[in-house]
Amino acid sequence: MTKLLVKGGRVIDPANGIDEVIDLLVTDGIIAAVDKNIKAAAEVIDAAGLIVCPGLVDIHTHLREPGYEYKEDIASGTRAAAAGGFTTICCMPNTKPVIDNGATASFVRERARKSGVVNVYPVGAITQQQEGKRLAPIAELIAAGCVAVSDDGQAVMSSEVMKNALEYAKMWGLPVLSHCEDKNLSHNGQMNEGYYSILYGLKGIPAVAEDIMVSRDILLAELTGAHVHICHVSTRGAVELIRRAKKKGIHVTCEVAPHHLTLTDEIVGTYDTDTKVNPPLRTGNDIEALIAALSDGTIDCIATDHAPHNIESKDCEYNLAAYGISGLETAVAVCMDWLFHTGKVNINQLIKLLTIQPAEVLRLNRGTLDIGAEADITIINPETKKQVVPNRFYSKGTNTPYKGMMLKGWPYMTIVKGRIVARDGIIL
Ligand code: DOR
Repeated sequence: MTKLLVKGGRVIDPANGIDEVIDLLVTDGIIAAVDKNIKAAAEVIDAAGLIVCPGLVDIHTHLREPGYEYKEDIASGTRAAAAGGFTTICCMPNTKPVIDNGATASFVRERARKSGVVNVYPVGAITQQQEGKRLAPIAELIAAGCVAVSDDGQAVMSSEVMKNALEYAKMWGLPVLSHCEDKNLSHNGQMNEGYYSILYGLKGIPAVAEDIMVSRDILLAELTGAHVHICHVSTRGAVELIRRAKKKGIHVTCEVAPHHLTLTDEIVGTYDTDTKVNPPLRTGNDIEALIAALSDGTIDCIATDHAPHNIESKDCEYNLAAYGISGLETAVAVCMDWLFHTGKVNINQLIKLLTIQPAEVLRLNRGTLDIGAEADITIINPETKKQVVPNRFYSKGTNTPYKGMMLKGWPYMTIVKGRIVARDGIIL
């Protein structure tokens, strides 16, 4: 029997209302006890001064395999997740081939089982080839283990197709994850439309391109009774629409990415293509609304939208660069440094947004330290200060606008099913 005893850490398990300096015992990959002064013959991890919480769950990751292994693959992406404190990730279907059929979804699960180091759940496509025209075989995707459907990276522009998708998904109780972007308004846009897009001479993507589609999807969720989850919310307008919809009892949830909580469109002035992301970095006014929505329950979870790219896709003119930020390895530090240490979000709330709440959005049986649950545990050292050094990432994508920044509060250890997978950012 293998035993692991995590001793003297501040255990925060929001699902069970625990926030206490206490011990945690893992036996054979299962959480066996959470109690004071546990005594057991076990490998001991001294967690004094550290935060011990359920393994972090990221419901929005791009693993790029199959098809774009030069950007990321399941081996490198899951190592990036573990180094970043995540024990469970859900991967988006914009691969080649697209995850729009059972065989590709099964391939991803099989590869994750063989080469992955964290739990991986595939997200299937809403439409075939993510073209927004014909529905993908959703029942087949579910049978192959998909936990949701999404055309992420592409908006489903046809309201009729989206309505059909919602009606169909509802029969299975399946969430539809919506990338909200009115492409007629956003096309060829490089950054947020506003003062800085004019100043920098780049074509803008207006906030309403997002708000219009959020509004449409809320109306369709109300009509169909289906569950719509809004991906990477980035505008004040979207937050206000979602808050109102929730008050009305419409089944809508949403996520926000760390970069949309911390960086504004002003930094695009460096013309560093690592600041190019979709939806684009917005304004301080949007950030204020997003942070308020983290604490009042409007935003359900933080998700990385980890979008790794190869050098060639980013080392070019701003107009030609790919959209996306490699986010798995900086998410915790960005949130700890910019949200927790500044007093903007309390630690219990932050842990909730990274564990039980994302798990609940996709109905994953994860995100708690329940006795008898698989022992997925993340330990965070709130005091560690480290610089972001992309060429030390496990991700193949070094595209991060946080490069060189000194951040405070990093994952110390990632434990998956009772096995220590990462320590101090190093995969074991
Ligand atoms: O910036 C982004 N990158 N936004 C998306 O929606 C897609 C993603 C990607 O796949 O690179």
